[in-house]
Amino acid sequence: MKILVTGAGGQIGADLLPRLVARGDSVTVFDLAPQPATCPSEVRWVRGDVTMAGEVFDAVKAARPDRLFHLAAILSATGERVPHRAWAVNMEGTRNVLEAARLFDVGQVFFTSTIAAFGPGLEPPVGDDVSLRPTTMYGLTKVGGELLGEWYQRTYGVDFRGVRFPGLISAAEPGGGTSDYALFMYVNGLRDGFYEAFVTPESQIPFMYMPDAVRAVLELSDAPRASLGRSIYNIAAISPTAAEIADAVRERIPGVRLTFRSDPRRQAILDSWPSVLDDSNARKDWGWSHEYDLASMSDDLLAKLREPASVP
Ligand SMILES: NC(=O)c1ccc[n+]([C@@H]2O[C@H](COP(=O)([O-])OP(=O)(O)OC[C@H]3O[C@@H](n4cnc5c(N)ncnc54)[C@H](O)[C@@H]3O)[C@@H](O)[C@H]2O)c1
Repeated sequence: MKILVTGAGGQIGADLLPRLVARGDSVTVFDLAPQPATCPSEVRWVRGDVTMAGEVFDAVKAARPDRLFHLAAILSATGERVPHRAWAVNMEGTRNVLEAARLFDVGQVFFTSTIAAFGPGLEPPVGDDVSLRPTTMYGLTKVGGELLGEWYQRTYGVDFRGVRFPGLISAAEPGGGTSDYALFMYVNGLRDGFYEAFVTPESQIPFMYMPDAVRAVLELSDAPRASLGRSIYNIAAISPTAAEIADAVRERIPGVRLTFRSDPRRQAILDSWPSVLDDSNARKDWGWSHEYDLASMSDDLLAKLREPASVP
């Protein structure tokens, strides 16, 4: 199958690209950034900007993908720092991608939304169909992307589907999200023996280990359209507090010092997100289920981080 992935130079792309190549897909990436050294050599890498409609159209026209995974985005913490850029990349970029899919008959557009699409005050566990009132630029642009994709599906028949990811944890360097403190406890704890998290110990949001996240993308992408009762699905795995993550790290890195000093800006973003998600629609429609809990994720992640030259 021919696959085009926008924004695959980041945290998710690092794990998704090897999986696509391993299953025999012909993969093209469209990303502003240069091809990382770790990227499989089979991948065709096109440098370009999703905010530039002509560049997106040229790339889609040349690749003629069966499926387009649209990952390119400006994430939550960065989005609050450069809101104009977040608007351009997340809104204009998504519109350009959908328009290219319509023009060049792409079989499917896969959208990576987020728990940041939700706003404050929702009673956990938070389901798919609650009122979406995000308070961040990132969140509001992701809601816009979800709605725009559904509009392209209704109006032009573009097969649009995607997930709302929790905070993702992997051995790859994160891209400026607010959930990054979790990974830094493992990475900095191992490398420096010390990390001060920028949240309170009680902070609690949904997280997922990257192998589960990549599997979710592939499974939903492969699901027959007729089995899907909706386009965008919550997917959930674990919801540990920051203190519980710290305990899991302490159990596995003897002597590590983990402390907490809440940064008001990032804490406010985090506090606006749900603590626990309801993903029963994903479980019912396409059989979603997570594999990794906090303990198995911690064991696997630390094993990966202990491999030579793997600490970001
Ligand atoms: N990582 C998470 O915890 C998380 C959680 C929820 C949702 N998501 C979503 O998953 C997707 C991928 O996330 P990630 O963590 O890999 O992000 P990342 O920040 O690590 O990587 C994003 C990639 O997009 C590229 N990019 C940025 N602007 C671009 C532009 N104008 N044109 C082309 N490429 C551009 C960057 O060069 C980078 O390679 C995003 O849509 C994000 O919103 C991620």
